Amino acid sequence: MIELRAYTNADIQRLVHLADNERVSRYLAPTFPFPYTLNDAQWWIETGCKQNGAVTKVIVYRGEFVGSVGIAPQTGWRSHVAEIGYWVGEDYWGRGIASEALGAMTHLAFSTGKYRKLFAPVLGPNRASMRVLEKNGYSLEAVLKQEVFKGGRYHDVYHYAKLRS
Ligand SMILES: CC(C)(COP(=O)(O)OP(=O)(O)OC[C@H]1O[C@@H](n2cnc3c(N)ncnc32)[C@H](O)[C@@H]1OP(=O)(O)O)[C@@H](O)C(=O)NCCC(=O)NCCS
Repeated sequence: MIELRAYTNADIQRLVHLADNERVSRYLAPTFPFPYTLNDAQWWIETGCKQNGAVTKVIVYRGEFVGSVGIAPQTGWRSHVAEIGYWVGEDYWGRGIASEALGAMTHLAFSTGKYRKLFAPVLGPNRASMRVLEKNGYSLEAVLKQEVFKGGRYHDVYHYAKLRS
């Protein structure tokens, strides 16, 4: 149902359209701000999406850019580990897109042979994201209390992970 492809400069306007939404950004890291401007999109496509060895893809659904999924490699004695993250534009929620994209990216990351472990930090209220991870065989390893300050409050982080089988 979905495909993954690389970002191009032609994605900038569409990225702003999808990303400039508080309901999309509210549980994401500060590299995904609100409001989400043209400058943010430009930085993301030129630099952010590949910073520090990251591999980030556009999620294509019915021929359209609808979201994004990527991995960020860790370093030092954790260089066998990568963080995985994803988001989908609000108009496309509830169609199984994130679940399929996470499955595809997980497969892609493990098939490189570089990683033994993928993890995702999920903020406490983000139950839909926890469900997406569980459907893809990720397990809850720990709950880090008040780990993140976002939107004027402290959030517990649910640390999900999957090992290469
Ligand atoms: C979380 C997000 C990625 C889900 O994308 P999506 O394409 O709608 O996800 P899917 O349709 O594949 O699956 C969502 C699942 O969560 C479930 N769900 C949705 N809202 C839920 C809620 N409030 N509580 C529990 N489960 C919920 C759905 O029922 C579905 O599970 P099911 O297939 O068993 O019915 C999307 O809402 C999003 O982009 N949010 C903002 C960015 C974000 O939070 N990214 C993740 C950061 S860790």
